[in-house]
Amino acid sequence: MELFDVYPLYEVTPVSAKGSVVTDNKGEEYLDFYGGHAVISIGHSHPHYIKRLKEQLDKIGFYSNAVQNPLQVQLAHKLGKLSGCRDYNLFMCNSGAEANENALKMASFQNGKERILAFKNSFHGRTSAAVATTDDEKIQAPINKQQKVTFLPLNDIRALQEEIAKGDVCAVILEAIQGVGGLDEPTTEFYQGMAKLCKENQVILIADEVQSGFGRTGLFFGFQHHGIHPDIITIAKGMGNGFPIGGVLIHNSIKATYGLLGTTFGGNHLACAAALAVLEVIEKENLLHNAAELGMYFKKKAAAISQVKRVKGRGLMVGLEFDFEVSEIRKRLIYRQHIFTGGAKDKHVLRILPALNITKGQLDLFFEKLKQELST
Ligand SMILES: Cc1ncc(COP(=O)(O)O)c(C=O)c1O
Repeated sequence: MELFDVYPLYEVTPVSAKGSVVTDNKGEEYLDFYGGHAVISIGHSHPHYIKRLKEQLDKIGFYSNAVQNPLQVQLAHKLGKLSGCRDYNLFMCNSGAEANENALKMASFQNGKERILAFKNSFHGRTSAAVATTDDEKIQAPINKQQKVTFLPLNDIRALQEEIAKGDVCAVILEAIQGVGGLDEPTTEFYQGMAKLCKENQVILIADEVQSGFGRTGLFFGFQHHGIHPDIITIAKGMGNGFPIGGVLIHNSIKATYGLLGTTFGGNHLACAAALAVLEVIEKENLLHNAAELGMYFKKKAAAISQVKRVKGRGLMVGLEFDFEVSEIRKRLIYRQHIFTGGAKDKHVLRILPALNITKGQLDLFFEKLKQELST
């Protein structure tokens, strides 16, 4: 058997990693400014993370959701405390798409409606409803197109108002800062207008924090920069620092009943240990502060580069917009400078998503190497 060939691959084979440095099978070191799509939050192979996972594996790795698992309760409490979202309850699953799939399902259970409002350039995952709310026809199979989804321009409050006024809207789903789309962020005015419209019309507001959550923007959640309270929040990526785990934070006003949601693997012992380790490191090492501080430092340095047309994003979720497509420079950064970066749907945007404990020295090194490539 061979692999189902859906990924174009770079010619790099990582075999080990520590912090923000990845080592390949030839012993070459790479600086990781992408964290495998925003997944690495506390750095590769963090000692506390390794210890907690190993200890858990020695005790019990998995049992189903039919029995008591105190780690799930610990995780919910810790997450509520660190995020400030104490009025929510946690449902655990395995990925970002699954988190959004469950969020959309919960919204529809709650108000009995079907039509979803999503935004141009959105990305919410590849499962049924999640991909239907993703603004990319290429990855939607005919079976996904049966869902009722309307895509609106970001920041167009009038368009949102007109759609909600039709009375059939179940939920609005948006990324706090668009990841795959290219780092666009709704304005605070739009956020607040949208939250008010949703509340007045019993429309469920879903904040997709799969990429922007877990401290990446300098606050625990990206929407917290805008003073709103979504009904449902979805999380994944940085939550497990590489261990597959996702979650849905559901506001207290939405009631659970037995059997409404479910999963075999979600919330297993190992996954909980991974997410707890991440939260413990975020708290102990004050990583939200580091993300906010170094994010500002990064943006300032980026803005001083003449070829950079615009710097987008917040904290350590940043996009550098050029007036040329970035695919070549990304290749040169990997092969010549040994730096991983990301692209976006907007081909002019270089996406930067380092671990939250990246250092100032590593940022300086990144800019040194980027400048070298921009001048050749
Ligand atoms: C904002 C956002 N939501 C959802 C997803 C889907 O997550 P997953 O690939 O874990 O299913 C992604 C993945 O890139 C994402 O960026």
